[in-house]
Amino acid sequence: MHQQTASADIDLAAIRSNVAILRELVAPAAVMVVVKADGYGHGMVPVARAARAAGADWLGAAFLDEALRLRESGDQGRVLCWLYGPEEDLTPLVAADIDVSIQSVGQLARVQAAAAESGRTARIHLKIDTGLSRNGCDAADWPALCADAAAAERTGTVEVVAVWSHLAAADEPGHPSVPIQQKAFDVAYEQAELAGLRPQRHLANSAAAMILPNARFDLVRIGIAAYGIEPAPGLAERAGIALTPAMTLRAQLAAVHAIEPGTSVSYGCRWTATEATVVGLVPLGYGDGVPRHGTNRVEVGLAGRRAPNRGTICMDQFVVDLGATGGAIGDEAVLFGPGFDGEPTAADWADWCGTIGYEIVTRIGARVPRRYRGEA
Ligand SMILES: Cc1ncc(COP(=O)(O)O)c(C=O)c1O
Repeated sequence: MHQQTASADIDLAAIRSNVAILRELVAPAAVMVVVKADGYGHGMVPVARAARAAGADWLGAAFLDEALRLRESGDQGRVLCWLYGPEEDLTPLVAADIDVSIQSVGQLARVQAAAAESGRTARIHLKIDTGLSRNGCDAADWPALCADAAAAERTGTVEVVAVWSHLAAADEPGHPSVPIQQKAFDVAYEQAELAGLRPQRHLANSAAAMILPNARFDLVRIGIAAYGIEPAPGLAERAGIALTPAMTLRAQLAAVHAIEPGTSVSYGCRWTATEATVVGLVPLGYGDGVPRHGTNRVEVGLAGRRAPNRGTICMDQFVVDLGATGGAIGDEAVLFGPGFDGEPTAADWADWCGTIGYEIVTRIGARVPRRYRGEA
């Protein structure tokens, strides 16, 4: 796709600013910026560089290849990697000085083998499941994992850097699961201490980092807020901060035409004009991550006004109603952006599509060129 036709424009200055604001908010806790899933769709390496420039102490990656790609890009700071399959060799991670999450004695044995193979001490973070029931060690298996990790630490094959966990509903202020998970985390930490470990602690995602000071501990793991999107509406205000959305998704109208009353638009004839109007074609579709679910609900910004979508969102394109004012081929449609010029935000799209801002930005596909501005 030609970058003038459509692009996701990434404001790296906004990312630096968001990270700096969040660092100040959570200090003295350190900050990990989570850059998995291609930096939530923003581009992992440019985001990682912006995050480091703004003082990020850590970067967080889900998969091995993401963490290794950070090293290949020249990043030499602390990186944590937390999700890998049963057949994956952990040696490249340990050899690349990447911290590894461990949630079972089986994984501990694998990382010890990787340490032996690479001739280095493996730095590990023991993950306890405190109630998300997604991954992490079960409470019943935790004392044995801590005991084995402490024994491995004594031999010098591993260094237990941290005990960590993840919250299920930190973005819902007052949710009863939060204190229950916090209590389970405290208990797990005490058991780690009893085993002779003296690790750091990290529990907080963006939401917890923003509104739960007692969940910040030594380090917070910030994802969505670094990209300028609230984990849930109202959380930035609650935290007393303002974030700037970093991604603007825009395209030039590829066609414009007048239609008569009674004319249907797009697959399934799901919208029919009741009066004469002018429609414009946006050359982006669900093949690019524009949710088809937003059909007849979403809007785009056009020179300060809004144009609603008409008819089914297709794989490569969708139609918007330009109204009597009309428009011209080449006019700029902004699907979402920071909202400064009246355009919708990713949060608006999430609302229209029954999802979260995370999904809106992360799913913008590889076909859409990224253009970067605000480089340091
Ligand atoms: C383990 C872990 N920590 C932190 C984060 C960051 O979460 P958020 O984007 O809500 O800040 C994620 C993202 O899902 C995660 O999986």
